[in-house]
Amino acid sequence: MVMKLLIRSFPIAARQGRSASMLFLGRGLLAVLVCAVIFPPRGIWGDAPTTIPVRRPVDVARGSQGMVVSETRWASEVGREVLEAGGNAVDAAIAVGFALAVTWPEAGNIGGGGFMLVAPTDDSRGSSTDKVVCIDYRETAPAAVSAHSFAQWKELRHARMAGVPGTVRGFALAHQQFGKLPWRQLLKPAVKLARDGFEVDDFLAYSLNTALKVAGVRAEDRYAEFRRVFAHPTRYFWKASDTLVQPDLAATLQLLAADGPDAFYVGRIAEQLVREMELGEGLISAADLREYRAVQRSAIRTDFAGFEVYGPPPPSSGGLTMSLQLKMLQRVADLRQLDQGAAEIHAVAEVMRRAFRQRAAYLGDPDFVAIDPSQFGSAAAARLLRRFDPRSATPSAALAGEIELASGPYESPQTTHFSVVDAAGLAVSNTYTLEQSFGSRIVVREAGFLLNNEMGDFNWYPGHTDATGRIGTPANQMAPGKRMLSSMTPTIVKQSGRVALVVGSPGGRTIINTVMLVTLRNLALGQSLPAAVDAPRFHHQWFPDRIVLEDLPQLRAPELLTALETRGHVVHAPSGQRQGSVHAIAYDPVRQTMVGVADWRRGGAARAAR
Ligand code: GLY
Repeated sequence: MVMKLLIRSFPIAARQGRSASMLFLGRGLLAVLVCAVIFPPRGIWGDAPTTIPVRRPVDVARGSQGMVVSETRWASEVGREVLEAGGNAVDAAIAVGFALAVTWPEAGNIGGGGFMLVAPTDDSRGSSTDKVVCIDYRETAPAAVSAHSFAQWKELRHARMAGVPGTVRGFALAHQQFGKLPWRQLLKPAVKLARDGFEVDDFLAYSLNTALKVAGVRAEDRYAEFRRVFAHPTRYFWKASDTLVQPDLAATLQLLAADGPDAFYVGRIAEQLVREMELGEGLISAADLREYRAVQRSAIRTDFAGFEVYGPPPPSSGGLTMSLQLKMLQRVADLRQLDQGAAEIHAVAEVMRRAFRQRAAYLGDPDFVAIDPSQFGSAAAARLLRRFDPRSATPSAALAGEIELASGPYESPQTTHFSVVDAAGLAVSNTYTLEQSFGSRIVVREAGFLLNNEMGDFNWYPGHTDATGRIGTPANQMAPGKRMLSSMTPTIVKQSGRVALVVGSPGGRTIINTVMLVTLRNLALGQSLPAAVDAPRFHHQWFPDRIVLEDLPQLRAPELLTALETRGHVVHAPSGQRQGSVHAIAYDPVRQTMVGVADWRRGGAARAAR
């Protein structure tokens, strides 16, 4: 368009002499200005950092009065302050969740959904009842959809991609069941962070700039509100130590504080959201919002290496898939003999591929599909391992069985996890998401919050499962009111009834493998939690049939790569590859302290209560 303007100006100028040259100059200037708006040059609006912030050590905190670990230091500090003000771990988790909606907008949210595991305590310090519950606040499909609604759809960043958000109802249910402090008090710190602003660090600058530099985000009308809310007010791009202020979000959170969760589902925020759907051709109606419910479910328990491991049930695939992996791991290897060499990676990757095959075959929303838990039990583990060979990879296609393979889906590596334990031993493991980074990138006009694009987690192409990783099996096909299958794996591990480990990660389908690797290394291989979080990670998800390795020196040794290839694996080792961002807490029975560890991969902070 800009070029056309320039070319069109030239002959007019030639024909009409001086006044035309003025016109030409004017139009030229306009064109340059438009160019600068769409493609800001270095130095005018500042440079957009394009590299991931430098690697740093994991952030470790020790204490005995409570611990909070999350993606941002502001959110972890909010959680610590809530604990120090007499709140319990659920209070702190809710306050952290709202604070992350302000300070980590790529995944922290009120317009998305997730899973919160809570390990309640009985009266004795640190000793929990056997029950671990899961607050399922996963988004639901709007009533307007059918199984084939998205079969021809191409755009991931669109209002139509938003599922009915669950976060606010989820936090409200957790608060009603376990909270101690008033709801309003838990929102106060988030309101303040949004209203007064907070200091951007290099991870947040990188996160914002990565979205802001996308050509469509700079130019398209549908992202005008995104630019208004998230672009730097004078420079467009962000740098560390800038201040991010979000007045519309502050007003929304203030309304939630004053009027409670109904403000989101039937009140003013619901009206704003439905108007956004009308303007942006989205599908969520007032009735969808009014009818949304968070659900309390029992966590999945697996006994592993002398510990009790609890994960989320469907509609997350995390709990059952990891449970099956742990059952298989106990069969394929003497766990203590595993190191980070080719033998470990081979054995663990074989377990990963088999569990992901079961995930694809059987898992979906349990309110819509009957899930047979025996497909994830010990007998299934034994059956799946019949073809396991310590010297040779099993091709994924050979495991397909009744799943018909056609000749890739994309599940985003975003999402965010936080862990909280209070002085009484009440533990919370929460993973929530907008799906991709900044979700649909649709900000609800004048309400300041982002909508998810979680509809992408359904199987869009009924019957079409292929080697690229696209899954078309029936269990996770779209239906009105149905929850899309998730990989989120917030996990709580106990030993003899006491909380021993709280762990989780973002990362789409890699989440399950990341959480399993940290759990395996910490519980069974005896690595300290900082070492287990720091250690290199790898991923196999059945299809594509390959092992993806992090870009760390331990996983780039030529002899390791050769040893894996000799076993028949396709090795994918992209440059800069990072897997997950684990924020975990371990209880150290020797020192009687909690150890909080925030991953180095995307920043994050561990904070101990005093
Ligand atoms: N959207 C990521 C997940 O639910 O696993």
